Amino acid sequence: MTENTVLALVGSLRAGSTNGQLAETAAHLAPSGSKVVIFDGLADIPFYNDDIDLPGSVPAAAQRLREATQNADALLLLTPEHNGTIPAVLKNAIDWLSRPFGEGALKGKPTAVIGTAYGQYGGVWAHDDARKSLKIAGADVVEEAKLSIPGSLVRFAEVHPKDDAEVSTQVSEILETLLGALKDEVAA
Ligand SMILES: Cc1cc2nc3c(=O)[nH]c(=O)nc-3n(C[C@H](O)[C@H](O)[C@H](O)COP(=O)(O)O)c2cc1C
Repeated sequence: MTENTVLALVGSLRAGSTNGQLAETAAHLAPSGSKVVIFDGLADIPFYNDDIDLPGSVPAAAQRLREATQNADALLLLTPEHNGTIPAVLKNAIDWLSRPFGEGALKGKPTAVIGTAYGQYGGVWAHDDARKSLKIAGADVVEEAKLSIPGSLVRFAEVHPKDDAEVSTQVSEILETLLGALKDEVAA
């Protein structure tokens, strides 16, 4: 049986990232017949610049992201909120994946956005902005797969999200919904 690959992009670079832990939770809970691969390397990608996005000489780190995205069946973005919107590292990844215009690796890719942030709304502005940007970039955003968990630094101070029963259930549901979008595409 062919395995579906979900590529996870995490919008926080720090070692103890609670969003990184959420990505680990998704990897841990991937339903049978699927796997979640966490992309390691967003920090190495230069800021998007047309002058360096040249056929045959795309920066290696950006090319690696493009290829990992092309090879994935779906994307899962997990991100905190930075000053009311998407962290720059994740926006930069979206920009690289949106080019070449109309043919970027994101085009038509089933994509969900979830995450946790310290504020009381769990980063929902960042998540909504990410969905908006992804749609403009050509992704097939799975709108039903939404999760914004408040109080990141407190809630996951002592407990990894995979050991939080409510969060584990929510992450499993997100994966089912995202992978369900793949089945819908095959059936259509
Ligand atoms: C530069 C910066 C800006 C932040 N802005 C927000 C914000 O607008 N809303 C919010 O809820 N939390 C904000 N936070 C707190 C983050 O939500 C919190 O640190 C979160 O746990 C970071 O995610 P991580 O644990 O995956 O690194 C901000 C943190 C940083 C470093």
